[in-house]
Amino acid sequence: MTSFAYRDGVLRAESVSLESIAKDFGTPCYVYSRSALEAAYAEFAMGCAGRDALVCYAVKANSNLAILNLFARLGAGFDIVSGGELKRVLAAGAAASKTVFSGVGKTEGEMRDALEAGILCFNVESEAELLRLDRVARSLGQRAPVSLRVNPDIDPRTHPYIATGQLDNKFGVPIAEALPLYRTAAGLAGLRLTGIDCHIGSQLLETGPLVAALERVLALADRLDAEGIHLEHLDLGGGLGIRYRDERPPELRDYLDKVFSLVGQRELKLIFEPGRLLVGNAGVLLTRVEYLKHGPARSFAVVDAAMNDLLRPALYEAWHDILAVRVHAGEARVYDVVGPVCESGDFLGRDRSLALAEGDLLAVMSAGAYGMSMSSNYNTRARPAEVIVQDSSVHLVRERERLESLFALERVLP
Ligand code: LLP
Repeated sequence: MTSFAYRDGVLRAESVSLESIAKDFGTPCYVYSRSALEAAYAEFAMGCAGRDALVCYAVKANSNLAILNLFARLGAGFDIVSGGELKRVLAAGAAASKTVFSGVGKTEGEMRDALEAGILCFNVESEAELLRLDRVARSLGQRAPVSLRVNPDIDPRTHPYIATGQLDNKFGVPIAEALPLYRTAAGLAGLRLTGIDCHIGSQLLETGPLVAALERVLALADRLDAEGIHLEHLDLGGGLGIRYRDERPPELRDYLDKVFSLVGQRELKLIFEPGRLLVGNAGVLLTRVEYLKHGPARSFAVVDAAMNDLLRPALYEAWHDILAVRVHAGEARVYDVVGPVCESGDFLGRDRSLALAEGDLLAVMSAGAYGMSMSSNYNTRARPAEVIVQDSSVHLVRERERLESLFALERVLP
């Protein structure tokens, strides 16, 4: 990805040096590249060219309105998992009619809002949810468009916290129970069966498990068809991995070719829900070194970003590359790059060889997905600013939070 590269010894986002962004917007700061976002979307859209397919960006990966609006303008649909995400996509100018609603715990209120907005499909994850949706839709005089999210019981071979397609996960309806549930749903007046949905996990580095899941989904679709339950679409979820370090994620082209060839002549629209693939490598977290601390056992670079800003290293021991924004000649040492939060798990990277001085800027790479969207205010820390770079201009797309706003909703006792 050339959107973040060194020129004249300084790391840039497109043509803007990260030093100037730090000066103008402060640190920590999330920096995204518009061309990287557009290129990632275009690759997916081109891969589906000539097919009846819809790319529904998984909003949870990065839900900034500017990013949602950018994808909407490029023609994307959206995959949401809460009433909050529904409000966001609508606020970003996206079409409800291109939005699918996933998630195991939809409330009645969320169902009502989504029905009133006119969403494309509810990906329903249990019998209880199916019955509730039927009731809510009937109360509004509507028929809710429904896919069952099936759990195909396939090991996606990824981190256990982000594996979702095995029977010990909370997600989906076990595929063996899907057929009777489709029959039940076909008899409910508040529902309109439109598809099957499946999402087996995230940061997948092989297509094998995705293909195995698709084969099971297709067998179910054929069985339903034979019973007179004709579906309009298959939703194959997201999950394709990206390179953080030296991973070799599948080529998107290969994956899509496999999907199209397995689906063959069946008249089914395909929905994909990529998240990480569209935004992961389009963003970095820019942070400044506050202190260098040389202990007897380890050396620490204490930076101004922390686990509350980027949780992935602490939560999954995820590895993100950490680059010095300005390369200087000093001697490299091995550092743990840590934040100011009061937890030993508060690290952004461990054992990194860097030549550093106090005040230096670092870029935590591949932070566009599940970075800002998983951030918190732990330790009463204001969330970072977010900017999008386009060529030589920088647009502030989220202000740095103000500390007063962090407790503005709180009240002391009378
Ligand atoms: N569709 C559904 C129903 C999902 O649950 C997810 C992600 C996606 C699509 C998008 O998956 P992707 O293409 O991004 O892999 N916080 C974790 C990742 C959690 C993924 C949750 N579901 C991380 O930072 O690695």
